[in-house]
Amino acid sequence: MKKTKIIQILIILILLSAALYGLWPFSLSENETGSLEVIALDSRQDLRTLRLNFPLDPLLTDGLKVYFLVERKYLDSIQEAGYVFTIETGCFQHKGEKSLRPQAEGTGGLNGAYHSYRELASELKSLATSYPTLARLYVPGQSLENRNIYALKISDNPGLSEDEPGIALLGGHHAREWISVEVPLLIGRYLLENYSREDRVRALVNSAEVWIIPMVNPDGLEYSILNYRLWRKNRRLNQDGSYGVDLNRNYSYEWAYDDIGSSPEPSSAVFRGTGPFSEPETEAIRKLFQNQRISAAISYHSFSQLILYPWGYLDQPTEDEALLQSLAQEMAGLISQVNGRVYQTGRAATSLYLTNGDFADWAYGFFRIPAFTIELPPVDLVQGGFLNSESDIEPIFRENLPAALYLIEWAIASYVSKGARAFPLLRRELEKKHEIMIKDRAGAAFKGKESR
Ligand code: ARG
Ligand code: ZN
Repeated sequence: MKKTKIIQILIILILLSAALYGLWPFSLSENETGSLEVIALDSRQDLRTLRLNFPLDPLLTDGLKVYFLVERKYLDSIQEAGYVFTIETGCFQHKGEKSLRPQAEGTGGLNGAYHSYRELASELKSLATSYPTLARLYVPGQSLENRNIYALKISDNPGLSEDEPGIALLGGHHAREWISVEVPLLIGRYLLENYSREDRVRALVNSAEVWIIPMVNPDGLEYSILNYRLWRKNRRLNQDGSYGVDLNRNYSYEWAYDDIGSSPEPSSAVFRGTGPFSEPETEAIRKLFQNQRISAAISYHSFSQLILYPWGYLDQPTEDEALLQSLAQEMAGLISQVNGRVYQTGRAATSLYLTNGDFADWAYGFFRIPAFTIELPPVDLVQGGFLNSESDIEPIFRENLPAALYLIEWAIASYVSKGARAFPLLRRELEKKHEIMIKDRAGAAFKGKESR
């Protein structure tokens, strides 16, 4: 037998046995899925020191308890450091209709009615082709693994940049928050499908440019579908061999402000990256905002049922606290009218936990636009945490629709075209100054000691 033939047969044999033993390419890595625990701590303990010393993924504050996702190898050291905790991993047992076992991608599959990257891409393309006069699909950038970051623009004359306010609805910053992809996508589809039927929709689409960016983190999302359901970050291979940057800690406004709202440690679930906009996914969002007149934004996440507004990095009111608060309350009121679910409103830093480098602080900080983080249902871990069922999609979209329409109408009503035109120049200057200041933090982060 020829040498090449033997090599061919060998390769086929290796691939076959790998497939048989479930090693390739869709199998679950026990190491990764098996090494994490959810722990609950009494919030009356001083958790600041704890969070400085271990890579913890803050999940939820629930009365007197704070939940963290943590690698099992740290449990002993946390205990030795004097912290009392209980292990609550069981709360994460899947409550939906689908099993957690990965299957090949396609319609349905492990993620059921939720969208995988490819399902989203084809849905967005088909919306853009079905409504050529109302929608156009843009790709402001690509992920690390070269997937497109899609932005569907919805407006009359979608090919023109008109003198109209832009409203951005973003989802999927965090891989495991699947519902956050569906809500902006369904809102976009609703606008297109009801344009010719509903006066209200037509009026608002005619006077605004709505940007739907449902999947900011496609690499992470695919990883969450195929490998590890509770993955959060993107898929950056970090210097220490760990994976992932938290994209919602990678924006530039007060990036690395402290080590509580984000972490310098690459293996942390809230690792902020090596510098502001170190990740192509956040860079794509920045590019979109630099080129468009965005006047309001909602970034969807899950879970907790909250409407949060800046600041997130500091427990201080912004200059626009009153406006932000009233918009948030108005939206919460509209939401509760649909299915009776209550979304609490508040300043991000107080209502959930401190963050720095998140999207909303950046959008408000540099563009001075109302920017909200909406944490979708459920309300807590016991109700399923990140694991919504398929039947949650429709009601959660329905209840969020009037709030989004309200914010779009607010943006139209308060849009001042001359001011908006002059604004990008001012902002660019502000951003430049800020980034020079932030650069030092990036240098310090490398040396691993920049706490303040
Ligand atoms: N769940 C989001 C995150 O952790 C919330 C960010 C909102 N900001 C805040 N300070 N809570 O990224
Ligand atoms: Zn999130």
